[in-house]
Amino acid sequence: MPVLPLGERVLLPSVSLLFDLFPELAEVPELLVHSVRTARYAFLLSRLLGLGRPRVLFCAGALHDVGKLLVSRDILEKPGPLLGSEWKMIVRHPLWSFELVESRCRGMRGLKDILPAVRAHHEAWDGTGYPEGLKGTSIPLEARILALADVFDALTSPRPYRAPLNSGQALEIMAQMAGHKLDPYLFEKARILLSFFREEKV
Ligand SMILES: [Fe+2]
Repeated sequence: MPVLPLGERVLLPSVSLLFDLFPELAEVPELLVHSVRTARYAFLLSRLLGLGRPRVLFCAGALHDVGKLLVSRDILEKPGPLLGSEWKMIVRHPLWSFELVESRCRGMRGLKDILPAVRAHHEAWDGTGYPEGLKGTSIPLEARILALADVFDALTSPRPYRAPLNSGQALEIMAQMAGHKLDPYLFEKARILLSFFREEKV
């Protein structure tokens, strides 16, 4: 049996968990891969920084975007600016994720702790996020950690309209987002760790 690199071994159990709960993800492989990588990054950030609960971060990372299964792929993959009606669909996805996870993951250990992070993963430090417009530390800590993992994976992944950024480029953009979209204090703590993630050094 071939020896899998660390990243693959960490990924496999979460892929099977996600398929069991949300088999529709098989039809949206980019979303599946993003969910699995975000789960791993969020778990590692929590464990290595000693902040939040790693298992909660892992599960919330795996499940945070399942609400996008209810958004059409045309909108998800649209390269240009979104129409108002399209943006309304996008901003609903954290609530749809919350509702889908609440209904399909009933009985999952720690579900009541996972749900707030799922719901608040697009809240912004300056209050301009969604769905509630929460601000600063009123955003749950685990949602703020999840946002770091989510944004880092989004920036370092290919998009239909651009090539993936390398870690350094992604961290430069995230530095500009710190204090606006991202918690600036958490970003400073996480910055060095994130710089190693893409190269699978942790
Ligand atoms: Fe999201």
